[in-house]
Amino acid sequence: MAKIRTSYFCQSCGAQSAKWIGRCPACNEWNTYVEEVVSREDVTPTTAWKVGTSSQQVASKPKAINDITYSEQARITTQDAELNRVLGGGIVPGSMVLIGGEPGIGKSTLMLQIALSLGNQRVLYISGEESEQQIKMRAERLGTKHPNCFILTETGTQNIFKQIEQLQPDVLIIDSIQTLHSSFIESGAGSVAQVRECTAELLKFAKESGTPVFLIGHITKEGNLAGPKILEHMVDTVLQFEGDRHMTYRILRTTKNRFGSTSELGIYEMLGTGLREVSNPSEILISQREESFSGITIGGTMEGNRPLLIEVQSLVTPATYGTPQRSTTGFDAKRLNMLLAVLEKRGGFKLGMQDVFLNIAGGLKVEDPALDLAICAALLSSFEDVAIPHTTCFAAEVGLGGEVRAVHRIEQRISEAEKLGFQDIFISKYNKKGVDLSRFNIRIHAASRLEEVFSGLFG
Ligand code: TYD
Ligand code: MG
Repeated sequence: MAKIRTSYFCQSCGAQSAKWIGRCPACNEWNTYVEEVVSREDVTPTTAWKVGTSSQQVASKPKAINDITYSEQARITTQDAELNRVLGGGIVPGSMVLIGGEPGIGKSTLMLQIALSLGNQRVLYISGEESEQQIKMRAERLGTKHPNCFILTETGTQNIFKQIEQLQPDVLIIDSIQTLHSSFIESGAGSVAQVRECTAELLKFAKESGTPVFLIGHITKEGNLAGPKILEHMVDTVLQFEGDRHMTYRILRTTKNRFGSTSELGIYEMLGTGLREVSNPSEILISQREESFSGITIGGTMEGNRPLLIEVQSLVTPATYGTPQRSTTGFDAKRLNMLLAVLEKRGGFKLGMQDVFLNIAGGLKVEDPALDLAICAALLSSFEDVAIPHTTCFAAEVGLGGEVRAVHRIEQRISEAEKLGFQDIFISKYNKKGVDLSRFNIRIHAASRLEEVFSGLFG
């Protein structure tokens, strides 16, 4: 009689254990172990291993790296320049891309739009979440026609592979990996074991056939991709689709990429007719204003290889209820506290009893330290209630000693500011070395200490 083999899996990281344990030794989460049926067949690990090796006819041998030849695979360039950018220059044949994001953010819309735009490719879009009619309705809204885009509403991998064999698609899209199930595994769809098995089957298909596969993945309430961490290890590229659901801008960010840089970013706008690529993001990230307000500054940051001018808004006001509040959106709260401490200690500004609110416009999350100077200037501008001209921007890091530090790629930041019509930019004095600043048509103020910046601004 066939034996049922079960095991316990951590639902958070995918670690496996023979018995139930309260706390996962791998990720330290509590109460995450769930029993899952691994297999009903009487396949012990040893026989499974033998099955694996017998099908592998040629045993691999080590090869000198110089003898290995490869040809630069022809990437599929999509019509979506933002997607091409985050993938590192188009879709790599045989690659597997995982796209994660919160419910309702627009993952299905993005993938359907990409499917419909791949004009000369045969695309198979497999949906386990929506009916054919629902997908058709969305395609109508997007307004693109594609004669070679096929929809399959199916969740069993066995049938999916049968259909793939018949259709021979050039690109495969799965919406979503958590809805698939393989009959080799007994546990329910979306469980760690199922997600792992289905991904492994699709990965094998992608590598053997050279077909690129896109997987849509759900994320947990903590913001991580649902399912085992191993999923992220298996795929070639992990993209995060993020943004505020109430705002129209969406950001596609690479968190892992075997074929390109991970610091790339694509920006879209969600319209009634689908997602629109935003090719000049700085224009939308700085609100169009004719006047200057206190507490608002513009910082020149880099996202990947792309310079972005971002608006920083701050409000510094006396704390009315005892303990002052510090609240940030889109920026690290610890770094804000550090900058406040620097301003207090090195600049002598009494910010200790002030409520401080800081907001990065456009729903972006920024980690680039080059925004420091813009933030310091915004804080002081609000504190002193003196507006900084809206034609001024900043690009420098601020150190603990109140020093203004150099940032990388200063030329790109300056030329972006120049392109957008800014008249003044504050940078670090140390950025001037080896950079030809005379070719710019924007006033460049180089400072080595915060005081110099403030005296230049507020006099
Ligand atoms: P969807 O792609 O279903 O999100 P996900 O697959 O990530 O769960 O996106 C749904 C949201 O997108 C929905 O709230 C409506 C919005 N939307 C538009 O604003 N315009 C459009 O053209 C489409 C198709 C969707
Ligand atoms: Mg969806």
